[in-house]
Amino acid sequence: MSKNKAHVIVMGNEKGGSGKSTTAMHVIVSLLKKNFRVATIDLDSRQQSLHRYIENRQNYAQSHNLRLRMPDTYVLDRSDKNQLDDIRADEQERFDDLLSELWARYDYVVIDCPGSDTHYARLAHGIADTLITPVNDSFVDLDLIAQVHPDNFKVEKLSLYSERVWEARKKRAMKDRGSIDWIVMRNRTSSLDAKNKRRVHEALSQLQKRVAFRYVTGLGERVIYRELFPKGLTLVDFKDSAETEKMTLSHVAARQEIRRLMEDLNLPGWINTVVTAAE
Ligand SMILES: Nc1ncnc2c1ncn2[C@@H]1O[C@H](COP(=O)(O)OP(=O)(O)O)[C@@H](O)[C@H]1O
Ligand SMILES: [Mg+2]
Repeated sequence: MSKNKAHVIVMGNEKGGSGKSTTAMHVIVSLLKKNFRVATIDLDSRQQSLHRYIENRQNYAQSHNLRLRMPDTYVLDRSDKNQLDDIRADEQERFDDLLSELWARYDYVVIDCPGSDTHYARLAHGIADTLITPVNDSFVDLDLIAQVHPDNFKVEKLSLYSERVWEARKKRAMKDRGSIDWIVMRNRTSSLDAKNKRRVHEALSQLQKRVAFRYVTGLGERVIYRELFPKGLTLVDFKDSAETEKMTLSHVAARQEIRRLMEDLNLPGWINTVVTAAE
């Protein structure tokens, strides 16, 4: 890629279990397949799901003699200082040091945030070029973005998280005049509950104008998005991992969802390819 600074993708949502780590892994492998140089940072020091996913990938590739593309993974340790101000300064320095190194060496840096508000997560939001927030198909999840009127879905009040993104946007604009492309993607949409699906769609359509994000279709609820975790694989890897013969129609549909998501993200240097069922 001709750009001289890596594009930073942050997976953020102050809620656990919405699909940040799962989506991160699928985005990472999609980018790797297109030969981008990708670095990852897992800021969820408690669960480390992304880190574990990638570890599983390394182990599986080794034990099965597979040449799978790998991202380079980095960790940021928490500060061991005692005072809050010292902790913040120390973490800011660690963060800046790591990022300045990664910006120069990679095309993409993918940062996976925990489902809570931490200092590192705030720093990550402040440098995001693309912020991806997966939400499950429920009004409980939408409530994390804004409170809406029950009848017409008009925004009544922004949530804490939206305010935080707003702060990050201001910080970013002041720092380098950059902007954050905030994308809210639906995750785990069910094919069964058409009514709820339509309502959530209406609410998100209303919300995107008021809260200034782009709302994209995202991913359906599918076993294939979770069952490959122990092997560290995604369905984007099928051709490279001898899993091809197990490909079903649902898998083909899932691949199309992933490609659609990658297109919708509108990332620099990403060139869409024609989807073929055989691939
Ligand atoms: N589209 C999906 N279909 C099925 N299961 C999913 C999907 N997205 C995520 N999951 C599962 O939901 C759980 C939470 O996902 P995860 O990516 O760990 O969320 P987060 O990182 O936001 O906490 C995991 O068990 C994961 O395998
Ligand atoms: Mg996670």
